[in-house]
Amino acid sequence: MSVASNEPVLKAVIPAAGLGTRFLPASKAIPKEMLPVVDKPAIQYVVEEAARAGIDDVLMITGRNKAALEDHFDRHWELEAALERKLDDEKLRRVRKSADLGNVHFVRQGEPLGLGHAVLCAKAHVGNAPFAVLLGDDLIDETDSLLQDMIAARMRHGGSVVALMEVPQDQIHLYGCAAVEPIDGETDVVRVTSMVEKPAAADAPSNLAVIGRYVLDPSIFDVLETTAPGRGGEIQLTDALLTQATSDQPGGGVLGVIFRGNRYDTGDRLDYMKAVVRLAVRHGEIGSDFREWLLEWAGSDECNGLEQHQLTH
Ligand code: UTP
Repeated sequence: MSVASNEPVLKAVIPAAGLGTRFLPASKAIPKEMLPVVDKPAIQYVVEEAARAGIDDVLMITGRNKAALEDHFDRHWELEAALERKLDDEKLRRVRKSADLGNVHFVRQGEPLGLGHAVLCAKAHVGNAPFAVLLGDDLIDETDSLLQDMIAARMRHGGSVVALMEVPQDQIHLYGCAAVEPIDGETDVVRVTSMVEKPAAADAPSNLAVIGRYVLDPSIFDVLETTAPGRGGEIQLTDALLTQATSDQPGGGVLGVIFRGNRYDTGDRLDYMKAVVRLAVRHGEIGSDFREWLLEWAGSDECNGLEQHQLTH
């Protein structure tokens, strides 16, 4: 049963063991989370987001291509020594940043048996405390405070928390979908009464999609251990959360925080390109030059005539 909780959220789990098939062939030899968004791999934005919420202990759930992820969050002594010799402080700062974000740990999922199974792989590391889950391919704009708002909601009401976003009805089949009811005195924090993974538009209980941020009560591990494979033969986190949503056991109950900011699924090619462009125009060094070029190019014959000579892939 959900009760207010003053336990802090100090650990984050970042599942990054999916196959990334939507981004093939780019994701064949490197995890899609390592694809650059302007000048940082997507996953670095996610670890930075956790750090902004006060979390400096991160466990990544990785698959067979984990080497690049491990190397990225480790020190690179030869590169640092070369930059020190050149007195290039700016590049030195950039190369060190990812290793200075906190303690990043890794565990292998072994087989990609689903997001629920990936989260279960974190059980020994997390222990008996609430924890955050951030999907490694989901970017939340750094000007938004979604994770902080979710942690605050958990402290007020207890239980677990999912992030929800309104999506057009014809896209709801791509997401987990939540049925919700209001909570007295709250705006944009709701109680989740039911959840369904990737429903057909006609069967969807709402237009509220579950996006890739969670704050979970540790009782979720017991639920995941007994959750049978669901949609696609995978152990679905949504199925375990559905059990939690209707549970009156300690740690049960699920809240939704409705997010109205910018979010990008960098595992999807179109969303990935939107993320690159949006973040590039705001970039401190190249932003204004890129924006100037983009505006000029958008008005050019090359851009506007593209339909006639659509490039093949
Ligand atoms: P996705 O639904 O994006 O699946 O997973 P995917 O396999 O990575 O990508 P596609 O659909 O084949 O292109 C959502 C998140 O859950 C992680 C993924 O790495 C991603 O961050 N995940 C998924 C795991 O860690 N393990 C799994 O078994 C499944």
